[in-house]
Amino acid sequence: MSRIVIQGGRKLEGELTIQGAKNSVLPILAATILHPGRSVLLGCPRLSDVEASIRILRHLGCQADWEDEALVVDASTLDRWDIPDHLMREMRSSVIFLGAILARMGWAELSHPGGCELGPRPIDLHLTALRQLGADLRDEGGFLRCTAQHMEGREITLSLPSVGATENAMLAACGAEGETVLLNAAREPEIADLQSFLRGMGCQVRGAGSSTICIQGRRPTHDVVHTIMPDRIAAATYLAAAAASGGQVALRRISHRHLSTVTAALHAAGCQITGGEGQLILRSEGRLRSIGTVRTAPYPGFPTDAQAILMAALLRSQGATVFVENIFENRYRHVDELCRMGADISVADRVAVVTGVTELYGAEVRCTDLRGGAALLVAGLAAQGTTGIGDVFHILRGYEDPVRDLRSLGADIRMA
Ligand code: EPZ
Repeated sequence: MSRIVIQGGRKLEGELTIQGAKNSVLPILAATILHPGRSVLLGCPRLSDVEASIRILRHLGCQADWEDEALVVDASTLDRWDIPDHLMREMRSSVIFLGAILARMGWAELSHPGGCELGPRPIDLHLTALRQLGADLRDEGGFLRCTAQHMEGREITLSLPSVGATENAMLAACGAEGETVLLNAAREPEIADLQSFLRGMGCQVRGAGSSTICIQGRRPTHDVVHTIMPDRIAAATYLAAAAASGGQVALRRISHRHLSTVTAALHAAGCQITGGEGQLILRSEGRLRSIGTVRTAPYPGFPTDAQAILMAALLRSQGATVFVENIFENRYRHVDELCRMGADISVADRVAVVTGVTELYGAEVRCTDLRGGAALLVAGLAAQGTTGIGDVFHILRGYEDPVRDLRSLGADIRMA
């Protein structure tokens, strides 16, 4: 199993163009099957989760191939509506294909996505929304057998602003007669990017980014070319790395607005942050400060995906910072690994208290999940000595080439 080895203690300096967003490209790849033609995705990140989605698209009968830097999907040959267990198990977020398959085929069969490292990942909100559109969904021994020969648009209120349920309902509603109004929809920027892709395809969708999204179903579709938005969590990762290591980095192709809660936290910790059109510059020198309490929340609140990453940046700060993880049940699995490097963190249920130490020490650690693995990268860069990070496949689900990116900023890092 591949490892990443870091010689820590070096400042980071340089410029980086941020990869396309994992959490945007995955729902957009599902959305490509709504149109029996070509979708060209520019700026598509080469991630293992994207490769898993490509395998699903090919299983469904689509063509999906890289053409230079673009990922081209031709869904005109789609002829299946099932996702087999082994493909569902590769990536639990494959449930995002359900709404699109129902919209295109009227049938769908897939195994229950199950939980993941972050705890149980229920899909009750997805299923409730699809049933409200008229889908008949039966859970038969871990398999979802779904029929939706005729879906009717209607007003749907999500009991909580679930990102995946919002996306699944949007895609299913594209196949429903009439208008669907989604209330209490998630407001993440990736949903606005999905809307932009759908509109580019000819679908009639508006309101994404707000809590109310309106979809006019069964619109004629056409070929589309779309550029995937930059990955705000990858950007947060590299900002946190520079904050922890010291130095100055400039990130290109990133919207300051999409990261405002993260940059506010890093600024409070003592970093200087400036930004222009599509660029963010962070400068960090001296010891960071603790920043009180960080509570994760749905967008535009502090993103749960940046919790572990910011925690890693504050391990050597002066004072104590309290984290409250309000989104997932089990999102502190990286804490034990950080403590092996000398961090002082205590966890009680959803609360983690980080007391800054003066030094971190390189150690052999293992990724527990995607963003927990990213936190180990940040800590390893700031630690004295050598850090070996195992199970890096977790990181490669969401980061195209972290070794390439961090080396370009001056880090002493390699894949072993
Ligand atoms: C998306 O997951 C992201 N994944 C996650 O990113 C991200 O952490 C999460 O949104 C929150 O921002 C992708 O976009 C592929 P949710 P999703 O539905 O859609 C509960 C990463 O690291 N819930 O908004 O699964 C759920 O248990 C990943 O890039 C239900 O109870 O998140 C959680 O507590 C990790 N029932 C909360 O809602 C449901 O039917 C938010 O989940 C659905 C969700």
